[in-house]
Amino acid sequence: MLSKEQILELLQPLQEPQLGQSLTELGWIRDIMVKEHHVALSMVTLENRPEDATALTDAARNLLSQHGVKDVHIRTRVASEHDRQSLNMGQVEQEQDQDEVLVKGHAAGLDGHELLSPESGVRFIAVASGKGGVGKSTVTVNLAAALARQGKKVGLIDADIYGFSVPDMMGIEEYPVVEDGVIQPVERFGVKVMSMGFFIRENNPVIWRGPMLGRMLRQFFTDVQWGELDYMLLDLPPGTGDVALDVHQMLPQSKEIIVTTPHATAAFVAARAGAMAIQTEHELLGVVENMAYYECGKCGEKEYVFGRGGGGRLAESLHTVLLAQIPLGAPDNHPSEPDFSPSVYKAETTIGAIYDEVAKSMESKFE
Ligand SMILES: Nc1ncnc2c1ncn2[C@@H]1O[C@H](COP(=O)(O)OP(=O)(O)OP(=O)(O)O)[C@@H](O)[C@H]1O
Ligand SMILES: [Mg+2]
Repeated sequence: MLSKEQILELLQPLQEPQLGQSLTELGWIRDIMVKEHHVALSMVTLENRPEDATALTDAARNLLSQHGVKDVHIRTRVASEHDRQSLNMGQVEQEQDQDEVLVKGHAAGLDGHELLSPESGVRFIAVASGKGGVGKSTVTVNLAAALARQGKKVGLIDADIYGFSVPDMMGIEEYPVVEDGVIQPVERFGVKVMSMGFFIRENNPVIWRGPMLGRMLRQFFTDVQWGELDYMLLDLPPGTGDVALDVHQMLPQSKEIIVTTPHATAAFVAARAGAMAIQTEHELLGVVENMAYYECGKCGEKEYVFGRGGGGRLAESLHTVLLAQIPLGAPDNHPSEPDFSPSVYKAETTIGAIYDEVAKSMESKFE
C-alpha cells in the first residue's frame, strides 16, 4: 500500500499545463485517500479545459498503475480564487527557522512571474559545466561584471544551492534587505546578486529535500525585487543533476554557456552538459575554455599546463563556437581595497579585457 507522500512523489512529474510547474509542488494534488488497493485524489488546474483534465487524469492513472495501483478515482477541479492568490505569493513551508527571511518574503504582486515569462525580454544566460572546479562560477561572475561595465542591467542567481560560492567570490559582505516582505538583491560591481549563501548561517550546512530545492530556486525569481534587467546570469551547479534539470525546465528560453578546461577528459565530460542543453532545447551561446594556458610574465610565452585544444574540440562537437580562452591568473587586488574580490578581474587587466570581449559578443547573439 502506498502512503500519501509516496503518491505525491510518484505524481511529481505531472505539470500544470498552463504554468509548467509540478502539481505536487504547487500543492494542487489534494484529498488523497488510500484504502487498501483503492486510491482517490483530486487535481487542481488553472483553467477549465477538459482536454487538459483528461490528459492529466490519464497520466496520473498511468504513473500509479506502474506501481500496482489500478483502482484509482480522480476528480479534477479548477483553481479557486484562493488557489490563484497563493500561487502569486509563493508557498514554501520551511523547516529551518534560520531561513525565515525567504519564508516570510512572500510578496504578492511582484514581477517575478513576469521575469520567468518569455515576454519579459530578459536575456537569460545559464553557465554550465560537466564537472566541478573548472571555473563556472568564476566565468559567471566575471561575465556579469563585464556586462555591467558596459552599462547593462545585470542580475545573477547563484543556482548552485548546495555549493553556493558567488557571494564570497565577489567579496560581498552585506546581506539582502527585506522591505515590505520583498527581498532586495545585493548589488556588487553593478550586478544584482541572489544566493542561498545569504540565508545560511556560517558553518551550518543545510540538508534540503529535493522538491524544496526547486521551490527555493523558484523563489529567487518570484520573491526578489530584481527591477528592470537586460541580462540574468545563472551559475548552475556542476553536472547534469536535479537542480540543473530544474533550471532547464523552469527557463526554457535560457541560452547556455559551457565551461571546460583544455584537458581532453574535462571537455569530454562537458559535452554531456552540452548534450543536455541541446536536449532541453537550450540554445548554446558557446564554450569558454578556462585555465587555457599560463602566460609567462617575463617572456610572454604561453605554456599549456592543462593540455590544449579541449575547448575548441568541444565547441566543434556541440556545433557551437569557442567564445574565449581564458588564461590562468589571479585577480590582482588586495583585501584592504573597498572593491576587493577574490575572483573578479578588473577591466584593465588582460583577463578582464577578455571578459569584456565575451560580454560584447553577447549582444548579437540575442537578436
Ligand atoms: N583562469 C583561472 N586562473 C586561476 N584560477 C582560476 C581560474 N578560473 C578559476 N580559478 C580558480 O579555480 C577554482 C575553481 O573555480 P570555480 O569555483 O569558478 O569553479 P566552478 O566550476 O564553479 O566550481 P564548482 O564546481 O565547485 O562550483 C577557484 O579557486 C577559482 O578561483
Ligand atoms: Mg561554482
